[in-house]
This record gives sequence, structure tokens and C-alpha cells, in this order.
Amino acid sequence: MKKLFLAIFTCVVCILWNSSCKHNPEDTVVPTPIDTTSSSVPCNPDTVYFSNEVLPLIVSSCAKSGCHDAISKAEGIILTDYANILRTGKIKAGNPSNSDFIEVIEESNAKDRMPPAPDAPLTATQIQLLRKWISQGAKNLNCNPNSNGCDTSKTISFKNDVQPIIDLHCKGCHSTYSPGAGIKLTTYAEINTLIVGGELIGVIDHERGFKAMPPAGNKLNDCLISKIKIWIRNGAQNN
Ligand code: HEC
Repeated sequence: MKKLFLAIFTCVVCILWNSSCKHNPEDTVVPTPIDTTSSSVPCNPDTVYFSNEVLPLIVSSCAKSGCHDAISKAEGIILTDYANILRTGKIKAGNPSNSDFIEVIEESNAKDRMPPAPDAPLTATQIQLLRKWISQGAKNLNCNPNSNGCDTSKTISFKNDVQPIIDLHCKGCHSTYSPGAGIKLTTYAEINTLIVGGELIGVIDHERGFKAMPPAGNKLNDCLISKIKIWIRNGAQNN
């Protein structure tokens, strides 16, 4: 009886000890996900929208193969979707300066920084966007930049329409240091090489025989895909 009591006592002490000392991701308050399926919300320029701006940046900068995609999960960390990003415990909603996520991105030692050298660091604008998203509560928001419909009536230009899409959704994985499949997508000339054989449309439209890009279910929305298609149909000019 005495032994049993001792065993239970030790166990309770163990549990208490463990839960107070372990750095446990569950300690972090995970904000309640807010509706992300509705795309009827028009975009407010003062709000950072996770699905539109933050996720594509994190996926192409961090969820590359060999890093934080669902297969490689470097250090057990997966950064392909909202739930997994928050589950790391490295984002303190409302407090970017206290978030390890920001700390590793801003780290000055290129070896310890994320993404690590030889990948380029995130730009000041990108870091500012992530800080603002965390300050605003690290919410799972989605807006519809085309709440009045997808406007394809204006000329689709490479510089103003197509390049920003590729920069946000593709460039992180297809840049100088870590070109997926050896394909770089940083300049007009590089992007243009994917047009003749139909690879660009094939991958973004998830056509059969092509790898789906961006990977991990992060398909571009229909409006972005239509804009790229119209630009190609009109001769894929460098305008
Ligand atoms: C998270 C990293 C990542 C992102 C984001 C990404 N790619 Fe890729 N891409 C890869 C990798 C890795 C490969 C090599 C194939 C593989 O292993 O799946 C690849 C392969 C490709 C290929 C060759 C496909 C084939 O069938 O061989 C094309 C074309 C391509 N990507 C275009 C794009 C475009 C366009 C975008 C943006 C809309 C994009 N990628 C976004 C990582 C990425």
C-alpha cells in the first residue's frame, strides 16, 4: 500500500514537473481560425490576409523540399498551412518581437538564419508583412481582391500582373540558390522558357502530366490563373 502511494505521488510530481519545465507548443494561445473559405470579403488595405499574402510567402520561402514541407519536416516543423504554422508554437499572436518565428528570420548570422544561407534572407518588406500579420493577431484571414469579379478587361502586363504573381507564389523555390527542378523563375526570360511547351499553364492549372505548382495544395486562385492565361494568349509580352 505504501509502495502504491509512493508510486502515485512520484507520478504526480513527475507530471507537474514536466508540464512546468517543458517548452511545450500547447502553451501558446492559438487564435481561433476565422472563416477562410469565404472569398466574398473585399480586401482592406490595412489588414494583412493570411491566405492571400502570408501563406504564399511562407510556402515558397520555407516549405521547400528538404526544408519544412510535409515530407521533409526539418526539425519536426511543417510550414505548409495555417494549422501547422501555428502549431510550431513559434508565433505569439499580437507580439511579433516575442515570436521565435520573426527572430530566426531576422537573425544576422546567415547560418542560423531562416531561410539559411546560401538562400537569400527575406526582404525588409516581407519581414514587415509578417510582423504586421502577427501584430494583428496572426489570424487566418482570406479576402477577395476581385470582390467585384475578376477584372481581366485591362491589358494584362508582365510587370504589373504576371511577375508579382510569380514573385509571391513561385520565386522562393525557384530562385538562384534553390531552383526546384533546376528551374529559375526570377526574370522575364526565365519565365518565358516555360511558355512554349505549355509547362507554365500545365503546372498552375494542375494539368495531367505536370507537377502541381505551387505544391502542397496551394493552388493559385482562378483569377490569377486567368490573368496568366490571357497574358500568354496575347503573346506573353515583356510589357
Ligand atoms: C515550395 C516550393 C515550390 C513552390 C512554391 C513552387 N515550386 Fe515549382 N517546383 C518545386 C520543386 C521542388 C520542383 C521539382 C519537382 C518536384 O520535386 O516536385 C518543382 C518543379 C516545377 C516545374 C517542373 C514541373 C515538372 O512537371 O517537371 C515547374 C514548371 C515549376 N515547378 C513551376 C512553378 C511555378 C510556376 C510556381 C508558382 C506558381 C512554382 N513552381 C512554385 C518547388 C516549388
